[in-house]
Amino acid sequence: MSGLDQRKFTMIFKYLIIIILIENVSSWIEPVNVKPTYERRDAITGQVVTCEKCPPGTFVKEHCTGVQPTICEHCPDLHYTQYWNYLQKCRYCNVFCGDHQYEKHQCNSTHNRVCECKAGYYLEFEFCLKHSSCPYGAGVIKMGTPYSDTNCEPCTRGHFSLRISSSEPCSVHTNCTKDGLEINVPGNRYHNTLCTSWQKYNGGGSLDDSVVSTYNEAIIQFVAYQKIPLKKLMRFFNLLQIEEAKKVSKQLRTHNKHMMHETLHPLLLKWKEGIKEDHLLEKILYILRTAKLKNVVKKVQERFMLSGSSTLQFINLH
Ligand SMILES: *[C@@H]1O[C@H](CO)[C@@H](O)[C@H](O)[C@H]1NC(C)=O
Ligand SMILES: *[C@@H]1O[C@H](CO)[C@@H](O)[C@H](O)[C@H]1NC(C)=O
Repeated sequence: MSGLDQRKFTMIFKYLIIIILIENVSSWIEPVNVKPTYERRDAITGQVVTCEKCPPGTFVKEHCTGVQPTICEHCPDLHYTQYWNYLQKCRYCNVFCGDHQYEKHQCNSTHNRVCECKAGYYLEFEFCLKHSSCPYGAGVIKMGTPYSDTNCEPCTRGHFSLRISSSEPCSVHTNCTKDGLEINVPGNRYHNTLCTSWQKYNGGGSLDDSVVSTYNEAIIQFVAYQKIPLKKLMRFFNLLQIEEAKKVSKQLRTHNKHMMHETLHPLLLKWKEGIKEDHLLEKILYILRTAKLKNVVKKVQERFMLSGSSTLQFINLH
């Protein structure tokens, strides 16, 4: 290597070092300001130039050239660009809210319109469907959202749900003994436990009017919650011989069989209004027998017939 060549070589080497240093330093000083770029061939010079992209909310009005940077412009109304881009037109806000939807986010220069199902609806295959309701005997374990339906589960032991609802969980049965009462009707999935203050074995004390009335209410309630097959139930309704029962009797088929007590209880209360308090047990047993509801007769007798001499003991059935 000649002396001249050697000098040239060291010079180039020094330059290289300096260039490397400058590059590193400059990347330390302005690391954030690196704008996204794209490459394009300049239409006039035919040379490939590197242009800066336009920020969200704008589009490329003019591409850069070798001498002029990119010119960006704001998106017009109802148009947007969400990302750094080199689009020559902004996108149109093409989402429109449909049935049962509301506009969650308006269209602006950086985002398309966002629609969401309104309260009580959820999205399924692009449609907003009504949240399901949980049937009788089942409760909500997770409420529906704009994106998911209601989650139901049959009520577990000790719980009930007597409403068709998209928001209510199962409720806990009332604890009668805790309140010093007796269970008149045990609860199930479909209804609560029903308590009474009437006690069968109360030592045969005196039966004053208030006890009689409690006793009769317990009888009515007890009968209303018995499982009675539809045919016999119709016969039973007709035997009550009240207008309301005749009307209801015709539509009984459409009623949910687990919820018959909702129909039966008010009717029996209505029937009770026309019956002398002292004759209630006698009369209801007579009707139940005539309707051939042997099982119910037996249960009512077991629970409500008093032993010994009592004004409430009626055996004298026609
Ligand atoms: C545009 O709407 C989006 C939501 O869709 C929001 O996050 C953003 O802040 C809005 N931008 C302006 C400039 O209002
Ligand atoms: C009802 O309450 C009583 C007394 O507090 C308790 O001993 C009993 O276990 C409870 N019954 C139920 C079914 O929770």
